[in-house]
Amino acid sequence: MIPSNQDIAALVRGDSVHKSVYTDPVLFQLEMERIYGQAWIYVGHDSQVKNVGDYHTTRLGDQDVIMVRGANKQVNVLYNRCPHKGAKLVADGDGNVGKFFRCPYHAWTFRLDGEHLSAPLKSGFEGTCYDPRHPDFQMVSVARVESYRGFVFASQAAHGPDLKTFLGGVISSIDNLCDRSPVGEVEVAGGVFRVMQRSNWKVFYENLHDTMHARVTHESSFEAARSEASAIGEMPFELLIMDGNGEPYDFWEKLELRAYHNGHGYMEGIFDPAAATRDPVSRAHFQALSEAHGEDRAREILGMNRHNTVIYGSGSPHTVFQQFRVIRPVSVDRTLVEIQTFRLKGAPDEVFDRALTYANVINSPSSNVMPDDVEVYARCQEGNLTRGGDWISMHRYAGSDTELPDGAVSTNGTSELPMRNQFAAWKHFMTATLIAKESTHAA
Ligand code: FES
Ligand SMILES: [Fe+2]
Repeated sequence: MIPSNQDIAALVRGDSVHKSVYTDPVLFQLEMERIYGQAWIYVGHDSQVKNVGDYHTTRLGDQDVIMVRGANKQVNVLYNRCPHKGAKLVADGDGNVGKFFRCPYHAWTFRLDGEHLSAPLKSGFEGTCYDPRHPDFQMVSVARVESYRGFVFASQAAHGPDLKTFLGGVISSIDNLCDRSPVGEVEVAGGVFRVMQRSNWKVFYENLHDTMHARVTHESSFEAARSEASAIGEMPFELLIMDGNGEPYDFWEKLELRAYHNGHGYMEGIFDPAAATRDPVSRAHFQALSEAHGEDRAREILGMNRHNTVIYGSGSPHTVFQQFRVIRPVSVDRTLVEIQTFRLKGAPDEVFDRALTYANVINSPSSNVMPDDVEVYARCQEGNLTRGGDWISMHRYAGSDTELPDGAVSTNGTSELPMRNQFAAWKHFMTATLIAKESTHAA
């Protein structure tokens, strides 16, 4: 039975949340309709479909979609369904379909914007209602598609705020990721990693700004990095990025967390940008940016020091090391994460090499760090299936957050504000028919 809006609202309190939001398949299905059916969701980057006919498949919630470069060079986002018998027109992944889609089942064809082109043996339709111009015979486009600096988002709702309004202040993270390129452009490069997590999708979003877990969950990896550094007498980048999780609690408390409307937010960077400019890779990067924009602007761009950003429902860009972890719910207890790495066009090759190293060491399936997280997410999923209690605490620093003039909220780095903010947005999406800009922050 579908729960009422009142029942759903009762699952989220200002300082705690009912565990069924992670375990109930009915709520999961409602999330697919009410969150993923309304919000702007990141589809992919337009560099993944450079040429006419290039496509990239992904999912908007439970909906298989194709991002494809059309004949007019525009990027289209279409449901991956042939209107004949419903077959998926392209296999999951990336490729090029040429000038049109051709269904693998009975060879109906479609233009790259989804318009029906032809069906074999037309004579068989004579005297029937078959009409190639009728919507029943077209591929269907997702209701709205917008791109911001090459990042393509789609919304399945015909109405609602535009992409920029939806993203609000968190758009600054996309800007900074692009601005780090001397020509202001980025591209997905070096392939992508995919990891299937045995946990609900929301757990990962909450963890992205959960600083209290770092020195506990990652103890084995940061201790290993420290012991290796002491054995070799230096702390190279590969070890430095593992070592960061071992900072003491007072370090994390001083970091800023910022929460925006619609569940978005970011966490301040954990690696000192001033120290970073002393290494040769950062110096070369600074040099290239200075040549393009002058030293002051280069300093400003590289000085924007952010660790994980959350674009709720889409995933997590990491601006400093050029990643985007795309988070895709698969079922109530399965989440597929695709890790994209970006090349900053016009930046020295070493900067891209460093981004790949970060992806390998921190985010890849064979990372020394991410399996720590994936293990605790699965434990949360399994623990919440027991009868050992019903509520999940998000009390830390509840009620002490500072509202900023632009409507964002800032707080101590160990606060559970991000989780409260995400669940306020969750509650709003799940109980409102359209996304409103107001009232998505926790009370
Ligand atoms: S299912 Fe596509 S042509 Fe028949
Ligand atoms: Fe972690």
